[in-house]
Amino acid sequence: MGMWHDTVVVTGGASGLGLACVTHWLGLGAKVLMLDLPGSAGAAEAQRLGDAVHFIACDVCDAVGMTDAVEAAQQRFGPLRVLVNCAGVAPAARTVGREGPHDLDAFRRVMEINLTGAFNATRLVAQAMSRNEADAEGHRGVIIHTASAAAFDGQIGQAAYAASKAGVVGMTLPLARELARFGIRVMTIAPGIFMTPMLAGAPPALREALTKDVPHPPRAGHPAEFARLTQAIVENPYLNGEVIRLDGATRLPFMR
Ligand SMILES: NC(=O)c1ccc[n+]([C@@H]2O[C@H](COP(=O)([O-])OP(=O)(O)OC[C@H]3O[C@@H](n4cnc5c(N)ncnc54)[C@H](O)[C@@H]3O)[C@@H](O)[C@H]2O)c1
Repeated sequence: MGMWHDTVVVTGGASGLGLACVTHWLGLGAKVLMLDLPGSAGAAEAQRLGDAVHFIACDVCDAVGMTDAVEAAQQRFGPLRVLVNCAGVAPAARTVGREGPHDLDAFRRVMEINLTGAFNATRLVAQAMSRNEADAEGHRGVIIHTASAAAFDGQIGQAAYAASKAGVVGMTLPLARELARFGIRVMTIAPGIFMTPMLAGAPPALREALTKDVPHPPRAGHPAEFARLTQAIVENPYLNGEVIRLDGATRLPFMR
């Protein structure tokens, strides 16, 4: 591995796609800061994974907590080179449901975590990265967001989730343009259906319905495949400002 992407920050790193990234980057010899909620499996996972991973319990929406976490990470590991934003929630609720209209605070909460939280991590880590020593071509860091296929083909009950992920897609290019002057690239991965605790929480019938029509390969994605794409993005300096669907050609169907 090149010397300059050896410190990686992963939000939502205690579970699913984030945990797969933590494990993958550790395997490449990186030092990894795992950020996740206090009630997550982060502390236990970090202990299991060893000294190269450092867990900080923090809500991505917390401006002060995230500022402190980024500072602590730099003190422990030195310059931060890669940020992978995986923290997210995906509650489903209908706009007009059996019990009345969509709860407005529930909508706000999804936007807050998935969109504002990702931006919070990005603004703070980008600021830290802007002070990094550049490599010969001027590169200082790479920021990777996690959107969703739902940003493009969101399903019933996903108005909040799809809107939050479309927001992540929408900020990708302006962030890449703005952070170019610091040599920081910004990319977004839009996963299709991945077998993680988030998906495991869905009813079996919905899981089956979502995975049976994946064109090829006809299965849910493995979290390790997501992690491998983060490596490919980091290693390819000409990838910038773009959204990559990682979905086996899935388009989420209309389901009543
Ligand atoms: N699994 C899929 O099929 C799928 C598909 C498309 C997009 N995604 C997106 O990928 C990302 C990871 O999803 P996953 O499937 O690994 O889910 P997951 O539930 O397994 O992991 C999400 C992690 O984020 C953490 N988190 C939630 N809110 C947080 C907050 N406010 N601050 C800090 N951490 C917080 C959780 O504690 C958890 O550890 C999410 O953004 C999700 O929307 C997942």
